[in-house]
Amino acid sequence: MTTEPAAALAESEALDLLAHGQIEIEGRLVAASNTTLRAEITLDGLTRRCVYKPVRGERPLWDFPDGTLAGREVSAFLVSQATGWDLVPPTILRDGPLGVGALQLWIDEPDDAESLIGFVPAYDVPHGWLPVANARDEDGDAYALAHKDDPRLARLAVFDAVINNADRKGGHVLYPATGSIHGVDHGVSFHVENKLRTVLWGWTGKSLFADAADVLRALGAQLDAALGATLEEHLTLSEVQHLRLRVRRLLRAGRFPKPPQDWPAIPWPPV
Ligand SMILES: Nc1ncnc2c1ncn2[C@@H]1O[C@H](COP(=O)(O)OP(=O)(O)O)[C@@H](O)[C@H]1O
Ligand SMILES: [Mg+2]
Repeated sequence: MTTEPAAALAESEALDLLAHGQIEIEGRLVAASNTTLRAEITLDGLTRRCVYKPVRGERPLWDFPDGTLAGREVSAFLVSQATGWDLVPPTILRDGPLGVGALQLWIDEPDDAESLIGFVPAYDVPHGWLPVANARDEDGDAYALAHKDDPRLARLAVFDAVINNADRKGGHVLYPATGSIHGVDHGVSFHVENKLRTVLWGWTGKSLFADAADVLRALGAQLDAALGATLEEHLTLSEVQHLRLRVRRLLRAGRFPKPPQDWPAIPWPPV
């Protein structure tokens, strides 16, 4: 984005703005697959950008028959909030100009934001990066799909395993100037079958990082209490139950998951 970055809001301020602000649609995001709109939202003189995904604009997906994509977007935020890892921008479900939809705070990236996920020459993977797949360009030159060995991305990888994210591509990771990393586009998550499709396979089979077990245990406890009940408003009972199971399995294994054999484990395009 070329505009000046807006001052960061505390999460509670952002949620209040999203819930009570006035929405003005700016336009459709061209690269987006569903009706994904960018809007401005204003409350008491405070204006920010947001992404608005009305339920009405959702195309039916053969492999996601239940619920709505918007409900999955909100669920992803609620799970992220419960981890305390601040991975998903504040997201709520509310009525808007095109009906009920997911509303998510827009994250400004500086012009020189550098992605930590991408294609690198196969024989020159940067120090501190982890290759996940091989590729060739039109000239036959060998590349590796790789990502940085970065603790923020490792948290995102655990989060994706928890929510069963079927679409973690490079473009769905944002790098604001705050130094945080944010994941977006969680409309195809929380399926009861294993659908984990991601570029973040760099740690597969390795032990989870130090605080992961504590966070997963706390998340599990919240899922057995109020968080579980809230998620049942957005997901099916079975999906919430499988979410609990994935948290328990991750805790028991203590390791990053392995890609399944029967499903393309890397989204296309990956970046
Ligand atoms: N909260 C956000 N802040 C900044 N950019 C975003 C945000 N959400 C989405 N985007 C950008 O818009 C693109 C399209 O949004 P996405 O959620 O992927 O829509 P779709 O579900 O239609 O694919 C993303 O790839 C990303 O570049
Ligand atoms: Mg997308």
